[in-house]
Amino acid sequence: MSRKSDKTLTRLAPMLLAWFDTSARTLPWRSPRGVRRDPYCVWLSEIMLQQTTVPHAAPYFTTFTARWPTVEALAAAKDEDVMQAWAGLGYYARARNLLKCAREVAARGGFPGTEGELLALPGIGPYTAGAIAALAFGERAPAVDGNAERVFARLLAMTGDWAAEKKRIGGIARDLVPADRPGDFAEALMDLGATVCTPKSPNCPVCPLTELCLARAEGAPERYPVKPVKIARPVRFGSAYVLRRMGQVWLVRRPPSGLLGGMLALPGPDWSETRAPSHPPLAADWTEAGEVRHVFTHFSLQLTVWTAQVRDADLPDGFWAAEDQAAGLPTVFSKAAALGGISVPRKR
Ligand code: ADE
Repeated sequence: MSRKSDKTLTRLAPMLLAWFDTSARTLPWRSPRGVRRDPYCVWLSEIMLQQTTVPHAAPYFTTFTARWPTVEALAAAKDEDVMQAWAGLGYYARARNLLKCAREVAARGGFPGTEGELLALPGIGPYTAGAIAALAFGERAPAVDGNAERVFARLLAMTGDWAAEKKRIGGIARDLVPADRPGDFAEALMDLGATVCTPKSPNCPVCPLTELCLARAEGAPERYPVKPVKIARPVRFGSAYVLRRMGQVWLVRRPPSGLLGGMLALPGPDWSETRAPSHPPLAADWTEAGEVRHVFTHFSLQLTVWTAQVRDADLPDGFWAAEDQAAGLPTVFSKAAALGGISVPRKR
């Protein structure tokens, strides 16, 4: 640790933990104080939270653990049941890795207990390995996600190249994890980042670390972290066809790998960089229902939705499904189905 961070941060862990003792959030995957955290619950919640907010992930966590209470139960589940239960959480490669990981863990008789071994499992990167090792196994491992990075960037008023600063934060955080409460330390950092040291309007007056914080002393903590300007996402275009007959809708399953791989979908051509003329999958009285916009990690999508009613028809791929199965579609397609006139039940 540098001299500056040394001086600033030696008191951080006790101050943060004292705050955590009175201010920890109650969340469905957390154990009561003093009760050992269950590795399965820690792992499942961390995977769900990788790209999803806490309020959005919470009902999914409750549903998954009610249906598959152990990693062995999840490992034995059918792929399509898990993919369907995951629908709406996004980033579907996570669900495929979730199953792969569950099966590996079940086969080896349980989760490994160290950061290094966890890192070798499917879908587990450095943050998640650190979080599981600290939370479930009490290892002195850091769990540094975007929230924790923001906290450290402000504490130390970091202005260097952001990629290099993130590396530096990883090292600083590792040094700071207290041997007696690594899991509480990780959760405390998460809670501080999520509830106090928030991106746009940090609530410095209630922050337990305010007297240590260099960005606060400068007067404008919200200016940190200083990140490179993002390049705008490219736009892609597509069409989705909502073909209906008597309470049913035609669905297809996407190829197993790639974007939304293995998920149910509405038929339509591959998405492209230019708007293509509509090529319906079969001749019918198609009506344009409107446009759905959806943001993926690497592009945003403008999907034109077409709808038609038929008495009977068969396409080369796919199947007729009850309209309420539209609830099992990924969000982009359930939005399109709703626009196409299907009443999509809320997932829960
Ligand atoms: N974000 C990532 N992991 C989390 C957790 N375990 N609790 C709350 N927010 C989180």
